[in-house]
Amino acid sequence: MASIVDILAQRFERALVTVYGPELKGADPMLRRSDHADFQSNAPLSLKKRTGDNPRDAAAKIIAALDVADLCERVEMSGPGFLNLHLKGSFIAETTAVQASDERLGIALASTPETVVVDYSSPNIAKELHAGHLRSTIIGDALARVLEQVGNKVIRQNHLGDWGTPFGMLIEHYLDLGEQVGDTAIGDLNEFYRAARAKFDTAPAFAERARKRVVLLQGGDEATLQFWKRLVDESKRSFRAVYDKLGITMKDSDAAGESFFNPRLEGIVKELTDKGLAVESEGAICVFPPGFKGKEGNPVPLIIRKQDGGYGYATTDLAAIKYRLLELGATRILYVVGAPQAQHLTMIYKAAEMAGWLKPPARAQHVAFGSVLGEDGKMLKSRAGDSVTLMELLDEGEERALAVVREKASERASAGEEAVAEGDLQSVAHAVAISAIKYADFSADRVKDYVFSWSRMLATIGNTGPYLQYAHARTRSILRKAEAAGYTPGTITITAPEEKALALALGSFGAVVHDVAASLEPHRMCTYLYELASTFSSFWNACPVLKAEPAERASRLALVELTAKVLERALGLLGIEAPARM
Ligand code: ARG
Repeated sequence: MASIVDILAQRFERALVTVYGPELKGADPMLRRSDHADFQSNAPLSLKKRTGDNPRDAAAKIIAALDVADLCERVEMSGPGFLNLHLKGSFIAETTAVQASDERLGIALASTPETVVVDYSSPNIAKELHAGHLRSTIIGDALARVLEQVGNKVIRQNHLGDWGTPFGMLIEHYLDLGEQVGDTAIGDLNEFYRAARAKFDTAPAFAERARKRVVLLQGGDEATLQFWKRLVDESKRSFRAVYDKLGITMKDSDAAGESFFNPRLEGIVKELTDKGLAVESEGAICVFPPGFKGKEGNPVPLIIRKQDGGYGYATTDLAAIKYRLLELGATRILYVVGAPQAQHLTMIYKAAEMAGWLKPPARAQHVAFGSVLGEDGKMLKSRAGDSVTLMELLDEGEERALAVVREKASERASAGEEAVAEGDLQSVAHAVAISAIKYADFSADRVKDYVFSWSRMLATIGNTGPYLQYAHARTRSILRKAEAAGYTPGTITITAPEEKALALALGSFGAVVHDVAASLEPHRMCTYLYELASTFSSFWNACPVLKAEPAERASRLALVELTAKVLERALGLLGIEAPARM
């Protein structure tokens, strides 16, 4: 289905071709929403080079050729050559009706769908997820949902740190615990890791055993592999618990961790050496992608085989990018990884290009993000003062959200409004906690650090997740009241300015989803959601719905219903639940 902008853009294209000939086919008429009109076009200015006309002359010619009598009340020139379009209510009403009857709510399918690999979450085994992993997990998950929604084939990849030298000490510690081990002893993974690390650092005999164990592991010793697998499975269980709680769409089968690529590493080194891309340097084998210089101006290597013959993070990432491009068939790969890994990733892309694996149209992009800070501006800490695990954080969020939800419910009850039932408080509090955390993260500038503040993110007014959930619940409550009175949504007509504003805001939903898919900036969805909720508020204050005359009531109910659906879908694309009653 075509949106208002699409339809207007077609008419503009026709007019441009009529005036300036076929060279102007496909030219962007630069249509934007405007404060002075419904839409504004900058074409006369932006296409100045191609039209050769001074913008005001171009504007006059375009207006004369523009066939929009069925869509616009009037089109006028303003300023240095802008075109202001005032739309007809009937045109807006028709496109809104089409959107309302469309299961996709006006989100067009991408014209060239791609296979997109999204590498996200990717925690390290035997260490619990901590607040720092939160961002990769929730940003990656939202982007995966959005990219899928516009019609791409999305392959989620959990690049787990599940292989390597730390497993020597972890396995030895595990064996030391012997009979006491039970499933729960490694349940507290942070503690388990800390204890192993402490022994490794202080007991030389233990360290020696750990080193031998690494050799056994790498040599494929059966018993060692069994121990390794138990540790990995235990970790995966703890990750799964967090994913479930957070509503993350990453499945167990999406895991392709470092161990998955282990059998391929030797081949990667051989291929790069055979292709003349890898060279020996100080006993190690390295690739030197051009353009990366260290402090003294010396080239920075990607070490693909260490002096001791072992392989590391870089070799694994090279194997992974080759797999994603050549076997999974990705044309777009997103690495949702913290900002400090920017150089590593750029070097990987460069090496993959040199090896001939990564070539247009395929591309790899780093979706970088900053750190989560506590209100003291330092790394986030728990109440007890140690670095906080994600599970603790989520539990605290639910506890705090419960207080918010309870207060809101009693407020509503005393105002005679329907309020969430006692039995549903817990599940609403859960939804509110997750939405507070996710939304606060998304609405900030992705690459910057942000301060984690419960009071700010849980506020029920302002640009927060809970505010938007309450806005959605309000639309549902209106629809329930209407239903109880036997009123149904009907034909949309647009007369009041607030109706027009709401319909136009609803109509831009599809474009916003595509904008997020292209820019990989979830905050654009947040801005949209907040604007839509505010526009709905103005509409609700200015336009009676339940008390309106039947035809007007039916039309306004249709707008309320579409608002409910768009709010729910937009939140859903961010991985945020929209309870119908709160
Ligand atoms: N496990 C890594 C870490 O915690 C993140 C992996 C990111 N993905 C990648 N392909 N390197 O830092």
